[in-house]
Amino acid sequence: MKALTVIGARPQFVKAAVLSKAMSLAGVEEVVVHTGQHYDANMSEVFFTELEMNPPAYDLGVGSGNHGHQTGSILIGIEPVILRERPQVVVVFGDTNSTLAGALAAAKLRIPVAHVEAGLRSFNSGMPEELNRVVADHLSSVLFAPTPVAQENLFREGIARDRVHVVGDVMYDAVLRFGEKAERESRILAVLGCSRGGYILATMHRPDNVDNPATLGIIVDALQKIAERERVILPVHPRTRASLARFDLLQGLNTNVSLIDAVGYLDMLLLERNARVIVTDSGGIQKEAFFCRVPCVTVRTETEWVELVSSGWNAVVPPVNAEALAKAVRDARPPMTAIGSIYGDGNASNRIAESLLSLA
Ligand code: UD1
Repeated sequence: MKALTVIGARPQFVKAAVLSKAMSLAGVEEVVVHTGQHYDANMSEVFFTELEMNPPAYDLGVGSGNHGHQTGSILIGIEPVILRERPQVVVVFGDTNSTLAGALAAAKLRIPVAHVEAGLRSFNSGMPEELNRVVADHLSSVLFAPTPVAQENLFREGIARDRVHVVGDVMYDAVLRFGEKAERESRILAVLGCSRGGYILATMHRPDNVDNPATLGIIVDALQKIAERERVILPVHPRTRASLARFDLLQGLNTNVSLIDAVGYLDMLLLERNARVIVTDSGGIQKEAFFCRVPCVTVRTETEWVELVSSGWNAVVPPVNAEALAKAVRDARPPMTAIGSIYGDGNASNRIAESLLSLA
């Protein structure tokens, strides 16, 4: 069995790391293609090193660009690779432009597509990620849904029932696998002078939040208010750093907000595990907060990860009022409800690998 894996953005490196290991144990031959969507050392290379991944067999080096340009460049780059490698399945993850392009190129070449993290929906078609995930799901032959809610979303859209498998979440596998390594190897708390439970961890990168000066202004204002009482650690995505500078918002962050470059996976895991509250617009970090049993405030109008909201671990707060956002963070506490295994048992990657093997 030969699989061709397409990855390109930060969260995909994490998901692929655990699946690659499971595929190798199951005897699936894997060829990894990095599209180059994320390319800075701290957005890409550090993940390969820390997550003990082999370097990709191909690096398309597409870099940044408008959506059409980025997606088109990946399509152009990946088609000859698929033709040369002739895999029996192409594996894509999540909802990025790399996911969409990888799935489309494979489906047009009549190679079965396997989509990991299938069935997630925000029902907000203004999000590029929503378009990417809907199209990728409908191009896929086998869909690995992390939860029953995701499975239901797929059934409602008419996807054949026998194509969908609820397997749990590979990001949970990753947290279990690399948690101890993070505790052993990361020095981030000492470097930043943070105490366990003594800070708020914040991340922001969605275009809706950071490409609009008024919205980013509200978020900066909220972080500033939070920082009046608690320290804020803010590892910034390059997109966000550029926007903060462009909109002249950097001076709005005082010394109790530590603005640092994007960190690697192990540092991020340690920062997450020890935060009092996490405030984010990332899909993956919402889940990681739950895996680390840290309450989360999601700065959006909706979330795909609805189980986190109904279980009380996540509050969705749109960035329309700085005081309301700051208050949500100040008031966030772990809920009293029992902790269920919402995202599986940490064996999602093994289930996916076994299932891929059976495709052959
Ligand atoms: C992408 C995904 C999003 C995912 C996120 C994780 C899409 C549409 N979005 O968003 O689903 O949650 O990755 O981080 O695919 N940049 C750098 N260096 C890098 C990478 C990016 O400077 O290594 C800058 C570029 O200026 C670029 C901008 O960040 O224009 C945004 O990068 P892009 O690839 O468009 O997607 P993300 O916003 O990271």
